[in-house]
Amino acid sequence: MGSCNTDMIVRADTLPVPGETILGESFITNPGGKGANQAIAASRLGGDVSFISKIGNDLFGLQTMEILRSSNIDSEYIFTDRKSPSGVALVFVDSVGENSIVVAPGANSSLSKEDIRKAACKFKEADIVLIQLEIPVGTAEYAVEMAIGYGKKVVLNPAPATALDASFLNNVNTILPNRIEAQMLSGIRITDEQSAFSAAEAISSKGVENVVITLGKDGAYVYSPDCKTIVKAANVHSVDTTGAGDTFCGAFCVYLAEGNSIYDCARFANAAAALATTRVGAQSSIPYRSDIVIY
Ligand code: RIB
Repeated sequence: MGSCNTDMIVRADTLPVPGETILGESFITNPGGKGANQAIAASRLGGDVSFISKIGNDLFGLQTMEILRSSNIDSEYIFTDRKSPSGVALVFVDSVGENSIVVAPGANSSLSKEDIRKAACKFKEADIVLIQLEIPVGTAEYAVEMAIGYGKKVVLNPAPATALDASFLNNVNTILPNRIEAQMLSGIRITDEQSAFSAAEAISSKGVENVVITLGKDGAYVYSPDCKTIVKAANVHSVDTTGAGDTFCGAFCVYLAEGNSIYDCARFANAAAALATTRVGAQSSIPYRSDIVIY
């Protein structure tokens, strides 16, 4: 469950600093949103996906529905907010594929506990519930409690970075932060394998069994009861990192649902995320299962 956005992407040589105006090169719109990206990644990579989200009563919302349905995603519990616009993200991508993003969440902000209650049957059916934080934290927390109540595994991608209560984290089985989010949750700056271990250990001490920190071109740091190590990233020519983290999360959950170890899930997810960086856009860059080769 999570957000849907329409991404408005401008490519430029560099990312602007505060107060600066720069000329960009190209502009495209693309479907995005961390929730929708992760749902589509899970579906393309072999998962059977139901997605819970909220759109506005507008063209972007209709386009989002169209894409989800054509991606084989059960969209029965995509709610419509008649008062707010659909979520939009302004995405800037530089010449080395790095990005910065500002999200206007719109209808994503009104995904409520009541909506989650209505979608309870989908929690009962699921093996894994995957959540991010582009929706209200209170709603995410409620959904996590519901999932735990039904005995489900919860995977949290704590993005965008937000401070979270210990009671929330305590219910999370596996957390997938990036470097910035891991720093926010642990108070430790990640510069190498040792600091990644320390950050993961600190996050795990809040009650999360498995911590996998995504480190971009440096791979991912896996911290689980039986494994504490770096999983290296594939060496690819990256053109746009937008949506790579979401691809990692969707891929990770599919492999987890298939009964693989946390280490193997990270390897599979790393491969999928690396491929996603070789193409432009979020959902447009997500690979299919047949694209992934693990050595
Ligand atoms: O993680 C990438 C996503 O973040 C983009 O698709 C954008 O919509 C924002 O939600």
